[in-house]
Order: sequence, then C-alpha cells, then structure tokens
Amino acid sequence: MSRRIQLFCCRVEKKPRDTVLILVLCFARIHPPEFFKNKYAVDEAHYVTEISSVLASKKPAVLLTLRGVNTDSGNVSKEASFEGISQFNVNNTILHPEIAECRVIKTDMELEVLRYTNKISSEAHKEVMKAVKVGMKEYELESLFQHYCYTRGGMRHTSYTCICGSGENSSVLHYGHAGAPNDKTIEDGDLCLFDMGGEYYCYGSDITCTFPANGKFTADQRAVYEAVLKASRAVMRAVKPGVAWPDMHRLADRVHLEELTRIGILKGNVDDMVKVHLGAIFMPHGLGHLLGIDVHDVGGYPEGVARVEEPGLRSLRTARRLQQGMVLTIEPGIYFIEHLLEQALHDPAQACFINDDVLRRFRGLGGVRIEDDIAVTATGMELLTCVPRTVEEIEAFMAEGQSSAKSFHCLSSQKQ
Ligand code: GLY
Ligand code: MN
Ligand code: MN
Repeated sequence: MSRRIQLFCCRVEKKPRDTVLILVLCFARIHPPEFFKNKYAVDEAHYVTEISSVLASKKPAVLLTLRGVNTDSGNVSKEASFEGISQFNVNNTILHPEIAECRVIKTDMELEVLRYTNKISSEAHKEVMKAVKVGMKEYELESLFQHYCYTRGGMRHTSYTCICGSGENSSVLHYGHAGAPNDKTIEDGDLCLFDMGGEYYCYGSDITCTFPANGKFTADQRAVYEAVLKASRAVMRAVKPGVAWPDMHRLADRVHLEELTRIGILKGNVDDMVKVHLGAIFMPHGLGHLLGIDVHDVGGYPEGVARVEEPGLRSLRTARRLQQGMVLTIEPGIYFIEHLLEQALHDPAQACFINDDVLRRFRGLGGVRIEDDIAVTATGMELLTCVPRTVEEIEAFMAEGQSSAKSFHCLSSQKQ
C-alpha cells in the first residue's frame, strides 16, 4: 500500500503559544480521519486534498515547516509544501531544532522499542555466531541476520547496510557497500567483524560483534580484542548524566594506547602519545553516536556545541554532555589500516612510539570493534545489547553453537 504522510505544525493566532500538530494523510485505502487521529495520537487528521483549506481555517500566525542541515553530510532536508502555501506566513527555521531536541531525549515508549530492536538484533547476532563456518561467504551471514530479524522479530529492514568484514576486511570501516558487498570467502584464522542492526517501526539498533571465524582467538587476536573490551567497559563505567562525550572518546583512546603499549606494539609515555593524536591511527572514527529513528540520530550538534577539530574527535557525531534519556552507541575499535600505519611510520612525531617489528606481526589482522547500544539513566546507563562479549563467553558460545543451538544468558545486560 503506498502511503505518504506530511507533518505540519501551526501556531494559531488566538492562542499564539499553542502549537497544533496536524497530520495530512494520503493512503491507497481510505480510512476515516478519526482512524489516523487515534493511530498516531495527533490533535487532528485530515485528507491531503483539504490541506490548504484546513490550514487557512485555523488562521495561523505562522506555519512551521521542517528544514535543516545534516551536520554529517551537509545535505538539507526537504521541507513540505503544497499548492496554496504562498498564502501563509511560513517559517522553516524554528521547527528543526525543536524536533531534533525531541528526538534526542527518548520517552519511555521509545525506550521500549529500542530495547526490542536490541533484543532481536542481539539474538540474530548470536544465530550468526553459531552458524559461521570457514568457507562461507560473508553475505551468507548477512542474509541469516536479516532472515532472523524478519522471521522472529517482524523487523523487515536493517538500520543500515550490514558490514560483514572478515580477515583484512574487518579493518574497512564501511565495508559491505555496493562496491564491496560482503562477498569474500571466510578463511581459517580470519577475525569476523560483523556490524548489523535490525529496525522496528523506524527505530534502529547498531551492534558490532567481533569473533574468530574458527571459534578460537589466536594470542594476538585475543590481546587486541581484550584491549578494545577494556576501553568499552571503562567508558560504560564512566557514563552518566553530565559527562562530556568527547571525554569518553579520549578515555577509550587512552585505554587503547595503554594496552597497545602493554602488548608491545607501542613504546613510551602515553601522555606524549595523546599529544600527537596517536590514538586516531588505531581508532580513526568516533567512539559512538546518538541512536534512534536514524542510526546516526539527529541533535548531535545543537547551537552552542562545537565539533572538536582534532584527529578522531572530529569524527564524533555529537560532542554533547550526556543527559538521562539519551540513547547512544559505545563502539571503540582498534584497526590495523595500512595507509594510516604508513602515515604514522613516516611521521617522526608518531613513529618514535611504534615498535615496527612487533607491529609487523599484527598487520593483516584486520580490526576489532565492539559496539553496544546504551540508554543514559539518572545515575549511569542501561545496556540494551546482550551478546557474548568476553573472549571466554565468545569461545564457549561458539563451541556450543557448532554442536547444538544452546542459548546464551547475558549477565552483563543488567542495569548498571
Ligand atoms: N553501523 C554504523 C555505525 O556503527 O556507526
Ligand atoms: Mn554505530
Ligand atoms: Mn555499527
């Protein structure tokens, strides 16, 4: 059934402080307006053919339309229009920041949907971990994830194109796109980095699991994995209202640098490494982002919040202080990306911290990302994602999964 919905707000002259939310509907099957008024819990519902006359009858002082810039892409959202709009006083700047702010802080009902998308997507990730076998194509697991989300959760769409990188592909941040469509054969010894999330009634999820294709981490894979897990858990412990998100990114970077030093890939003083932005060589993306109706949700940079123009930090999709009711991803990662490693090795300020002979062993390992979705609570956070996370949990789960379909009981998803 084809369907189109337009959303308008108008401020009525007699009550200038009241804003009436009006849905204008265009459906193939014609239901009475009352049906939609109840379904969408709006003040009024009218057929699209009546748009001009209904709005004129309200004698609005101003008609608010939605136009705004996406701070990631620079794209501008297209505002609604209709025949006869020129008779109104239209303002297209007031509504966007207001709507964005409404989307940043989730209601209890929105949180319920996000818990659901995470529950089903977590289960789907576990199905994939049980099913993966050396020799499969990456897209077989993408397909299994989508099948599980749809058949078991009624989730027809994913929130973004699945990223199913194995081996060196696990270091390609946006692998899986049309030019690299998850079509490599998974090999023995590969790490799999699978970033996939199902969507329900437009609400998304965004989860990454990294695990060894053959079910057993090598010593080097384990060391890198546990470094990322340590960063993830350090951030989770620190998250609470009032905390600045860039500081969480800095915290993750610091843990990575400390752990890479412990592994032997890096040498020297971590404070000095931070000064030359060495963390961004290994994690060249932001720590996480707001999540909701869009996977990279709106509201990251309201007026007064500036992007931090430093390597790594500039990729953050928000630099806000956390507030109760925000939903975000926490997704630290360590990647061995050839051109970034070469760049660092050719920069004396960074190269002096790198043990090239040790690093050589890790080139080709790919990357590790651990991505969970969380809701900020009054005192900390609630973990929405529930998948095996420690090395022991993953190896035990995959071993069980290969022989039988056992369930994994998540202890770590308790409210923090
Ligand atoms: N899956 C996209 C992201 O992690 O932001
Ligand atoms: Mn993400
Ligand atoms: Mn992701």
